[in-house]
Amino acid sequence: MTLSIENRAALDFVLMLRRRWADTLYPRLCAQYEARFGDAMSGSPQLLATRVHDLAGYAGFAWLERGSQKMLWRAAKDAIESRNDGAGAVIRASTVEASTLELDPELDLPDWYTDWDIHLQPGGVWSSTVAADVYELGAKLVMQGDNDDYRFHRLFLETAIPPRQYRRIVDLGCGFGKSTWLLKKAYPRAEVVGVDFSEPCLRLAVRRANAQGLAIRFRQADAADTRLEAGTASLLTATMLVHELPLEVLSKLFEETARLLEPGGLLRILDFQFTGEPLRDLAMREHGLRNNEPFMPPMMAADTVGMARAVGLRNVRWTAFDERTAGRMPALHWPRRTEWHFPWAVLEAEKPV
Ligand SMILES: C[S@@+](CC[C@H](N)C(=O)[O-])C[C@H]1O[C@@H](n2cnc3c(N)ncnc32)[C@H](O)[C@@H]1O
Repeated sequence: MTLSIENRAALDFVLMLRRRWADTLYPRLCAQYEARFGDAMSGSPQLLATRVHDLAGYAGFAWLERGSQKMLWRAAKDAIESRNDGAGAVIRASTVEASTLELDPELDLPDWYTDWDIHLQPGGVWSSTVAADVYELGAKLVMQGDNDDYRFHRLFLETAIPPRQYRRIVDLGCGFGKSTWLLKKAYPRAEVVGVDFSEPCLRLAVRRANAQGLAIRFRQADAADTRLEAGTASLLTATMLVHELPLEVLSKLFEETARLLEPGGLLRILDFQFTGEPLRDLAMREHGLRNNEPFMPPMMAADTVGMARAVGLRNVRWTAFDERTAGRMPALHWPRRTEWHFPWAVLEAEKPV
């Protein structure tokens, strides 16, 4: 996408701020904590929070997390609204009408989904066509080069999904399709279905899939109630979905995965888990609140392994995911890093044969 100098400068500035937040402000906060309290991180989460909130670097750290995210969406929206790259024409010229869109006119989006501007994006990802375009641009930029050409999702595909002859793959909470297109590219003979609540995102997903010549079924439905045929999915994926679900919907989602999977079918969820580093985990809990992701901390604290087992799934476990190069790690243990990073993790499970 061609950006004006002004739009480019605004986006570059926000990204620079976010980088400094992660690689300078977060380590500084950790150093201040250590200088003041030594390694006394053994108290309750409340005690830890009180101590951290009292540190000199905390106010700037906390504000910049929320403030820079708001700036990012504003800059992304400005860029989308003033774009002039003829993208529509290019896409139309190369389009193959291969993907399909199944909309549900009866679908009532639940309040828990519409009440929050998720990730602080004004209007969420569901309220308009522009919202989907802004989300697409923001989602690419926010990974700060780590997701150029969707490398992040490719790492997930290559390291967390065993290569097999999948017959049907369902990508739950597919958004505008960046997690779904790669599945179809890797498994062209599989029927690939992307499910999401957001009509604008699904429309964008179809356009982008068609432009790449990919035949994918995009379906508007609740990921926890897809109304797809039972026992037909050989692979179910859900990337960055489960932290957006209230706990009662999360348990319904696990029931739905057990219903959808065929015997021997695999479930792979890419999301977050606590690291066991108290300060990092506190920052992550507070990130959920500061970034309008209220269901994230409860999801991370929940016994998701127990939920998956309770619906009959087996070999359930979380492993860490290193988004830089390694992807799925052998255990729930991240390489040591001083900068802020998301504690990405993969939940794997299977339906018994
Ligand atoms: C953070 S995005 C992730 C999109 C995509 N999987 C990816 O990795 O880029 C989460 C998506 O889940 C969708 N979503 C949230 N709750 C949902 C639900 N219960 N049913 C269907 N979609 C849902 C949102 O509309 C959004 O598109």
